[in-house]
Formats: sequence, C-alpha cells, structure tokens
Amino acid sequence: MQKHKHRLLLIFILLGFILLICSMIFMERKMQKNSSIKPSEIFRPLEVTHIYCANFGQEPTAEEAKEQRDLLNSIAWPGPLVQGLPLELSSNPSKSYFVIQGPAEQHIGSQLVVHVHVQNSLGANKDHGGDFLIARLHSRELGAGVAGKVHDHHDGSYTVLFPLLWAGVVQVEIMMVHPSEAVAVLKRLQEEQPDRIFYKSLFRSGALSETTFCNLCLPLNKKPLCNYTDPSTGEPWYCYKPKNLGCDTRINHATGGYTKNLITKYEAQFFQSGVNLKVPIPASAIDKVTVLPAEKGQAKVKNNYNTAGYYFHDTWRSLNGAVIQQFNDSSAITHCLRGKIVYMLGDSTLRQWFEYLTAFVPDLKQLNLYTPKRVGPFMAVDSTNNILVSYRCHGPPIRFTPVLSSELHYVANELDRIQGGPDTVVLVSVWSHFSSFPIEMYIRRLRHIRRAVVRLLNRDPATLVVIRTANLQKLDPENSLFNSDWFCLQIDAVLRAMFRGLNVQILDAWEMTLGHHLPHDLHPPRAIIKNMIDVILSHICPVGKI
Ligand SMILES: *[C@@H]1O[C@H](CO)[C@@H](O)[C@H](O)[C@H]1NC(C)=O
Ligand SMILES: *[C@@H]1O[C@H](CO)[C@@H](O)[C@H](O)[C@H]1NC(C)=O
Repeated sequence: MQKHKHRLLLIFILLGFILLICSMIFMERKMQKNSSIKPSEIFRPLEVTHIYCANFGQEPTAEEAKEQRDLLNSIAWPGPLVQGLPLELSSNPSKSYFVIQGPAEQHIGSQLVVHVHVQNSLGANKDHGGDFLIARLHSRELGAGVAGKVHDHHDGSYTVLFPLLWAGVVQVEIMMVHPSEAVAVLKRLQEEQPDRIFYKSLFRSGALSETTFCNLCLPLNKKPLCNYTDPSTGEPWYCYKPKNLGCDTRINHATGGYTKNLITKYEAQFFQSGVNLKVPIPASAIDKVTVLPAEKGQAKVKNNYNTAGYYFHDTWRSLNGAVIQQFNDSSAITHCLRGKIVYMLGDSTLRQWFEYLTAFVPDLKQLNLYTPKRVGPFMAVDSTNNILVSYRCHGPPIRFTPVLSSELHYVANELDRIQGGPDTVVLVSVWSHFSSFPIEMYIRRLRHIRRAVVRLLNRDPATLVVIRTANLQKLDPENSLFNSDWFCLQIDAVLRAMFRGLNVQILDAWEMTLGHHLPHDLHPPRAIIKNMIDVILSHICPVGKI
C-alpha cells in the first residue's frame, strides 16, 4: 500500500516537472515572438479619460482657471447635439439651400446677407443648429475672394455676412463641413479619446533597445512611467518605462499610430465624402449679385466682423491697415531681410515658409546640418547680407517621423533664449498637432508661449513676432476624426483670443485658405504660401520704412 502511494507521488512530481518544462519553452517562444513584432501589437495604449488627462500638468491658478472657463464658453458649440437620429433625418447639404437677401445689384461698402436653410434628406427643415458651415464670396475671373461670417440661429437657419469689397459679379459659396450629427461624434471623441493618436520613443543602451508608447498623459498605477515633464514650463510628457532600460536612454520621438475603429458604423454615416462631408449647399435660385462702385455719400466700408483681408488679382490685401507688398523677385526679399535674424518655431505649416524662402532666394543658402528631412532643425544663411533664417519644430505632442528627443524643444523655452531687437523676427505656428487633444491642453501650451512672448517683448519691444493661425484642410472620413476643421476652428478661436491685445501680428491662415479658390489642404499650396510670405515681409519691411 505504502509503496503504491510513493509511486503515485513520483508520477505526480514527474508530470508536474514535464508541465513546467513545457510552459517554460512556451514562454520563451512567446517572448521571442514578442521581440520581433511592432510595439503597437504588444499592447494598446490603455484608456485615458478626459478628466484624468486634464489633471496632468500643473494646477492652473485661479486667474488661469477663469481665463480657461471664459475661453471654453466662447467656443461652446450650439446644441442640442442630437444622437441616435436616422441618417435621413440628419442635416443634408444637397437638400439644404441658401437665399441671397436684397437686390441683384448692390454697392461696394455694404454687406451682403445670405440666409441658409438646413434640411434633412426628406426635405424637412431642421429645428436646431450646430451644423458646421463655411462661406466664401468670390469672382473667379478677378482672382478675388473673401471669407464670410456664419451666424447660427439655433433653429436650422443660418445667416452669412460678407463685406462687399470689389466691383463685379460676385458668387456665393456655402459649404457644410459637417452636419451637427457629425459634430456630436467629434465632440465625443474629443472628450473620450484624447489619446487616439499615440506616440512612441526608442530607448537604447549598448545592444539593448526597446520602443514604448508615449503621450501627454498616460494612466498612472498601471505600468511604470518615465516622466519627461519640462522643468521650466511644467509641460507634461510621459512614456511607458522600458522593461530593461532606464528613462535616460530615450533616443527619439515619433508618431506611434492612429487608433482604428473609433466610431460605430452608425456614426460613420455622418462622415461620407460627397454626401455630408465638405459638401456645397446649393442656392435656391441665384447665387450671384452684381457689385457696383460705392454710392456717393455712402459711409466707408465698416469692418464689422474683423475680416482680416481678401484676395484681389490673386494677391492678398489686408483690411487692418497694413499695406501688403508684392515680393515677386528674390532680390526684393534679400533687400528686405538684410541684417535680419528670422526664427521659425513650430509645425510643418511653418516649415513651408522656410522651404519657400530657401527655394526662391538663391543667396539664402541652406546649410547641411545632417538633420532628418522634414524634421530639422534647419538653418539658412546669406553671409553677404547678414541674413540668418532658422527652423525648429515645437515640443511634443508632435506627429513627425523620428525626431531626436534632445531636439524636442518647447517654443516657450526657445523664445526665452532669444535676445530680441529691431532686427529679430520670430514666426510661431503651433496648432495642428493639438487637434486631437482636449482644448485645455492647447490653452495651457499657448499660455506658456504667451508668457514667453511677453518676456521677449519686455526685453526688446522692437522684436517682430508673427503668429500663424490654423487653416482649413482637405477632409476625408478617416482624417476627420483626428484633424477636422471643427477641431481646428476651436484652436483658431482660442489662439486669437489669447494673443489679442499683445504687440504681435496674427497671420490669418484661416481666412487666407478660406478666401482662396485653391482646394483646402493641411499644407496650403504654393500660391497661398507666396501670399503669406508677402504678408510677413510687409510686416518686416513696412511701406515707407525701407
Ligand atoms: C512628473 O514630474 C513633475 C515635475 O518634476 C511632477 O510635478 C509630476 O507630479 C510628475 N508626475 C507624476 C505622475 O509623478
Ligand atoms: C507680382 O506678380 C503678380 C502675379 O504675377 C502680379 O500680378 C503683380 O503685379 C506683381 N507685382 C509686382 C510688384 O511686381
């Protein structure tokens, strides 16, 4: 009996041993497999909630919290954002229409009023607002165009106002960027999925290397984190800690990817190209009026809606007093930039200016700094004329191909390193990479930049600071969820409000892309870039000052 028991025990121990060996082999196989697959396949970034993300970084002061509340109120989108509506009851641009108010002939200096009536696919009027519309008035053969201001009456009707600025036949163009039902989806994503774009960093030491995910905020108490919070601004940035490497072995930063399957099949119906995504709204009857010269004794054109400017003969004219000159030949640019240092700090829409200048001005030679293409930093010099132009990207979040982590500089910190003066020009563009985050993160970033701009202007008030706004872009069902003009509209409004009253120039990329006949693009076409450069150079070298 006793012998039997022993034998049974031995068999059990043997069985256990075999099982252990098997599982060890299995584990090893699994680990080998893991090291050969991409980081995005190892684990998905864990879910982060809005409230949770907003708590990252420093607590705002009472004053900052108030500014934030006011800004958020100023961009509050009209409701109710109805959810669960069948597609045929949602706003349909092709079934909607606009009506031009007033006579077929109007005068320069007055205002053109257009009423828009939004309807659903069944042809019934919508009874609430919240559709995202944009408007443009133009004369194709004159190369003229201007953005309109849209007012939501919250009952399915909208009024669009255009200043009448040139004589000729002008045509009204109204476009529905998103029906209100799509805006409801975007709003949900903005609140629930702030981490829908993820980032990654490579860590390396000797033969060991690991890639982990990074973001503005990551879940605490889940996995160990590396804290890359910027010591001077307090801007947060985190990566998951590599398993076998220290946080100080981070090499670079890059886009990790875009979350898939963000919206349901039902929600996707409201993002259909050619159906309800950036689709024109037709006129009920006529879409044109004839503009005649101003009437005698008529008051000068009032710029009620702060229109920044308009195109005429395809060249941008400013409405805020500055005369925009044409810098058609490179020698005129060299002449204007003589003795200047130009710092460009920001995203790829600013890099376009660097590329334009170095391509167009042969005397401005770009140095080979052996930095990655489209990432930088870059530098160009004209030593004969003492011109220095440099570009560097802003700090994270930034969706670039790998950028060295030591080159992730925050704009505020860069501004603090600039002495300033009458020969210093600082161009800033920070907008696009914030479109997928809650707006609070953008407010915080701009607050740091604004403080640094104030410090710079205190050091030397003669420094020229130009801040570029957001612009419209080409949207499809996929990129709408990350980059929609609706996200950028809020970013744009916040940017303008936060720099109002400061001695800086705002370059209105929004109106410059909306007013132009060329299609919207994240990176505006060269014809628009040329006009932007003309605006900047006209600020550097104002008429009568050269
Ligand atoms: C990261 O570091 C900053 C500054 O050192 C600190 O204020 C913050 O609390 C840290 N974050 C976490 C999650 O520990
Ligand atoms: C610059 O070029 C544009 C477009 O070719 C032209 O309309 C304009 O008259 C030129 N301006 C100057 C100052 O040469």
